[in-house]
Amino acid sequence: MKEISCKLLVVGAGPGGYVCAIRAGQLGIDTVIVERDRPGGTCLTVGCIPSKALIHAADEFGKVVRMSAGKTPLGISLADPKIDLKRTVAWKDNIVGRLTNGVTSLFKKAGVKTVYGWATFRDGKTIEVATETGLQVIRAETVVIATGSAPVELPSLPFGGPVISSTDALALQDVPGRLVVIGAGYIGLELGTAFAKLGAKVTVVEALPRILPLYDAELTRPVAKRLAGLGVEVLTGAKAVGLGPKMEVVRVETADGKEVALPADKVLVTVGRKPLTEGWGIEELVLDMSGKFIRIDEQCRTSMRGVFAIGDVTGEPMLAHRAMAQGEMVAEIVAGHQRSWDKRSIPAVCFTDPEVVSAGLSPEQARALGREVLTALFPFQANGRAMTMLAEEGFIRVTARADNHLVLGIQAVGQGVSEFSAAFSLAIEMGARLEDIAGTIHAHPTQSEAFHEAAMRALGHAVHI
Ligand code: NAI
Repeated sequence: MKEISCKLLVVGAGPGGYVCAIRAGQLGIDTVIVERDRPGGTCLTVGCIPSKALIHAADEFGKVVRMSAGKTPLGISLADPKIDLKRTVAWKDNIVGRLTNGVTSLFKKAGVKTVYGWATFRDGKTIEVATETGLQVIRAETVVIATGSAPVELPSLPFGGPVISSTDALALQDVPGRLVVIGAGYIGLELGTAFAKLGAKVTVVEALPRILPLYDAELTRPVAKRLAGLGVEVLTGAKAVGLGPKMEVVRVETADGKEVALPADKVLVTVGRKPLTEGWGIEELVLDMSGKFIRIDEQCRTSMRGVFAIGDVTGEPMLAHRAMAQGEMVAEIVAGHQRSWDKRSIPAVCFTDPEVVSAGLSPEQARALGREVLTALFPFQANGRAMTMLAEEGFIRVTARADNHLVLGIQAVGQGVSEFSAAFSLAIEMGARLEDIAGTIHAHPTQSEAFHEAAMRALGHAVHI
């Protein structure tokens, strides 16, 4: 048995863990990171990145299909488009490969040692890793738990056979004829929309009364409209209860209490993710929990001295960029810097069609805090650039305190609005007031003018509406 020791040990090389290790290495901390798979975690290998590749390919294909059907006003026509999903998936895998190799090189550059294998805690300072070449024991002064999360399985529809997780969906070699998606959250709608564009007949089953229940109805209306336009059937208030006897149908209990049988070649179950708190010896540690997550303070410290936790294992929102920011902060704390979690905005983006982005509070959430608010939206229908891109669906909406005009939240729905997440978060982090946005020149002609106009409208003097 081999033994090594280090100052900092990071368990899990997802976005939280790998950023933490690289930053620690840059700061001269003797760092080891343990990972059972390739570096990059869910996000890079089977989540954010590969899904965005598939979504992009589906968008491109969807466009040419519309053109071939003579459904575009642009005057472009072409004949009989086809997609070879095997090649699309190979292209996507190549992107993932380049990025995981990139992370490996960054580890080297920062002087981070990597150990590949499954880690199990013996105590708060010691782990053992089952590597290909035998058991490796690692002792560390400080440990960071960054074990991430895993898809939730439905007891009535366990993964296997036609029932697939998002990981399986991203590796399909052929477009399923009929795809039933259980759960109209982030993953279900992002992938469901992509497969509809690729030619599958998609039905989405959602237990709650509306799609993307995390967002308000005004924001999700354009998404629901587009799903209908793509021929996606959405059953809300409905629950999947199991497969039919020959696994060729999904049995669903609809809102009015009836049971229907939906024919399906594949059933994609996307009903949330759960923190990965099992299988790595959490019982050997004395950690306070917060529900199913590991409880942390504003420095990502757990209840055990010298043990930090970051990323999905520590709570909502389970987003890669939250984990990265926590990872960077923890590395700096270990290096002796004065840091604590003081973020005002963790933007959330849903890569549906159209895209949805949210930073800060919605008008409803702001009012629920007892605030009097000013809120206004500017529709892309009145934005010249949006018209030239066939992107008139959607809007940008701003909410601010009525007394001092401090911006509390900004949301948008529309084509390509994900890239606004930076501008929105910057405004909130910098403590912008409506006047700051209204007083900033926004380039013409761009969709960003809708941000400018929404702020002016909240102040009562929009120009273009
Ligand atoms: P989710 O929590 O976003 O949505 C799950 C949906 O399934 C909910 O609407 C829920 O009401 C529904 N549901 C639960 N049980 C059901 C049942 N038996 N029958 C029908 N519907 C049922 O979870 P999702 O989409 O799996 O995503 C997991 C996590 O991954 C998210 O929390 C998110 O943080 C992250 N993610 C982020 C993305 C992004 O930032 N763009 C993209 C994909 C995932």
